[in-house]
This record gives sequence, C-alpha cells and structure tokens, in this order.
Amino acid sequence: MAEPSMEKIVSLCKRRGFIYPGSEIYGGLSGTWDFGPLGVELKNNVKALWWRMFVQEREDMHGVDAAILMNAKAWEASGHVEGFQDPLVECKKCKRRFRADQVEKECPECGGSFGAVRQFNMMFKTEVGATDGVAATTYLRPETAGGIFVNFKNVVDSQHPKLPFGIAQIGKAFRNEIAPRDFIFRVRELEQMEIEYFVKPADWQTHFEAWKGEVYRYLDAVGISRELVHELEVPDGERAHYSERTIDFEFDFPFGRKELYGLAYRTDFDLKAHAAASGVDLSYLDEETKERFVPHVIEPSFGLERTVLALLLSAYTEDEMGGETRTYLKLNRAVAPVKVAVFPLLKNKPELVKKAREVYTILKKMMPQTMWDDNGNIGKRYRRQDEIGTPYCVTIDFDTLQDDTVTLRDRDTGKQERLPIGKLLEKLAS
Ligand code: GLY
Repeated sequence: MAEPSMEKIVSLCKRRGFIYPGSEIYGGLSGTWDFGPLGVELKNNVKALWWRMFVQEREDMHGVDAAILMNAKAWEASGHVEGFQDPLVECKKCKRRFRADQVEKECPECGGSFGAVRQFNMMFKTEVGATDGVAATTYLRPETAGGIFVNFKNVVDSQHPKLPFGIAQIGKAFRNEIAPRDFIFRVRELEQMEIEYFVKPADWQTHFEAWKGEVYRYLDAVGISRELVHELEVPDGERAHYSERTIDFEFDFPFGRKELYGLAYRTDFDLKAHAAASGVDLSYLDEETKERFVPHVIEPSFGLERTVLALLLSAYTEDEMGGETRTYLKLNRAVAPVKVAVFPLLKNKPELVKKAREVYTILKKMMPQTMWDDNGNIGKRYRRQDEIGTPYCVTIDFDTLQDDTVTLRDRDTGKQERLPIGKLLEKLAS
C-alpha cells in the first residue's frame, strides 16, 4: 500500500491550500471537495499535460467540450437510465443506507438487519426550464463519454478524420454515490479525462493494446509510481453494460487497491444505440474502400481527482535534512503548482528586495507559476516550498548585487549552486 497515511495527505492538502471540504462553513456537503489556490494549479497542470499528450501532440485526436446538461434521450439510449445503478440496502432499525457490496449482513452503525437489496440509479435528475414534467427532465451527465458520442457526426462532418481517430474531452461528471468516501476518491461531483477512439471493428485488439501503453506513458509523465499500479482484467458479469472487455488500472491506495483508470472496449454499442434512438445515421464511410460501417470504440477513461490523489501519494516523501525531519512532495516539474520560488535573503534590505523583485518579475513572465516568498528565515521558506512540491528556490543575496549571480536550491537534494541570472533562466526554461 502507498505510504503515507490518508490523514497526512488530507491534513497537508487542507493546511497548504490544495483541497478543502466542500461548503465547509455550512458543515460540508458529503461527496464534494473544493480545490484551493495550490490545488487548482496542480489540477490544471494535470489536465494540461493530459490534453497536450493525447490531443495536441497527436494528429489523430480531436478535442470537444460538450454541455453537461444533455437531452435525456441520450441517457436513455446509452443505457444509463436503465442500468447505471448500484445495489442499495437500508437498515431496518436506523434507516441508514449503504452500498450492498460494501457491507456485511448487519448494519455497521447499529447492528440492525437490512431490508431487500434494491437498485439505486446514480444519475442526478434535474428539471430544465420553468415547466415541470417528463419533457423537462434531464440528468447531469454521469460520464463525459456521452458528450463525445453525440458529437461523433459533427466531428466527422467538420474535421473529416480518417479512421482510426479519437475524440477527447475533459470535464465534470456527476454520480449520486450511495456512500462517498476516502477523501477525493469516491465523490459525487468529479472530473473525467476521456477518449473515445474509433477503429475498424477488426482492429480493436491492436488499438486496445496500444492504449494500454499510452496509459503507462501518462502515468510516467504525470508522476504516479508504476510499482503501485496493477492491471485487473474485469471478468464477465462485472463490466459496465456497454463493455466487452475492460482492464482496470488499480492503484494501491492506503484504503486498498482500487480503480484509478479504466480501459474499455465499448464495441459499436453507443453509436448504434444513439443512431437507433435519434434516427441519425452514425456510420462512417471509408473513402478508400467505399465501405460504410459503424466504427468500434476503445475508451481510455481517466479520473482527475483520482489522478491527483495517486500523484500526491506517490510524491509524498519524508526524509532527514540538516538533522531535521522534513516533508516534501516530489512532484514532476510539469505538474508542480509552483515551479520556482524567489526569495530576497532579508526582507528589510530594500536593495535586496528590489533586485529580487526584478528576478521574480522576469521569471513570472516566463513561468507564471512563480512564487514570491519573504516570510520568516530562509530555512523556513525552503521547508514551506518543499511541502508544496516546488522544484527550485532562488535566493537573491548581497553577492547578487555585485556580480548578478543567485543561489539555486534543488528540492530533492537540498543542494545549492551559484549561477549567473542568465544561466538560471536557461536552466529553468529547459
Ligand atoms: N466512461 C467510463 C466511466 O465513466 O466510467
């Protein structure tokens, strides 16, 4: 299991402004979390890396950003109205509700017995417009995939992609979980990073294998330890209703080995279902062979909050430096919320502060995720930056005023080097 404990991660996230409980001043709202100033930077970096790797750096991928509210017919066609459900039991004595697969025979709260298991649909229902009634009912999307499938024809007609090609989307999804738990692991409002990759039916296995490789490439790039990730071939009867093969990429969280990402072979289930329900032809014409067919789909699905959690667990490190225990986040530069922090050695020396502000201004233009810190002594500033995962700290001292050199300190080793400002910019830009 990943070290450290969840308590340490939750506490660091709260204390340093990564993640807070949702609606905290009102006592919270179960299954919701708010990202603070550092958390939003981390999360945006994780998304930007994903988007860059899977959309911008490839020629076969097209991005979309579809509406969260969709016509309810889309969720009827996709099978979610009928089948997106978890088994629920209610305690006869205290009336508390649990997910049937997460409890034993008796209520863990009061020891009471449970009533019959019933299926609970996890989609959030809402009304669109001022009229009540069936026509106005819709759902907050339970997966971003839906917004991709309904735009298949739009992307084909406007971009004319050749098979195989993919459509990617990052966005919010909502699930009315019976029992949200484990910090940002199981939540009711989440963000997904999903790809529907359309292929010729005969080629699905080749692309499934290729996407497996891509999942590992992302794990490495974002900084999640591979030793903590395991593949699970999801057996028949346990896969989502649309999937003919699924591999879960599980992570050793402190609360158990649980799903981090999924890779599913959704066949032509969705396009066929949406074509039948909408009456719109969602087939694809292969210009070379003049064949018309419904493409099959490989779906790599990445949970954003789970990525952030696995990343924090992978990065959290305690070691000894200068005879003291220190905590630091060994985050990759690509995702670190602060890339570099700039300090004047002393904050009450105007000439040092002026020079440090000059260096800070240059760096901030080049890398907006640059932070200024002049609070407390240098040792304390280093510790604070270590704890939020800042890869480098730059200190401006009296020598800087003479020779334009600064001290660059490395987070992981604590080593310091003296270098000219010009070289510093080169190093940090690389
Ligand atoms: N689209 C796959 C999932 O939401 O689990």
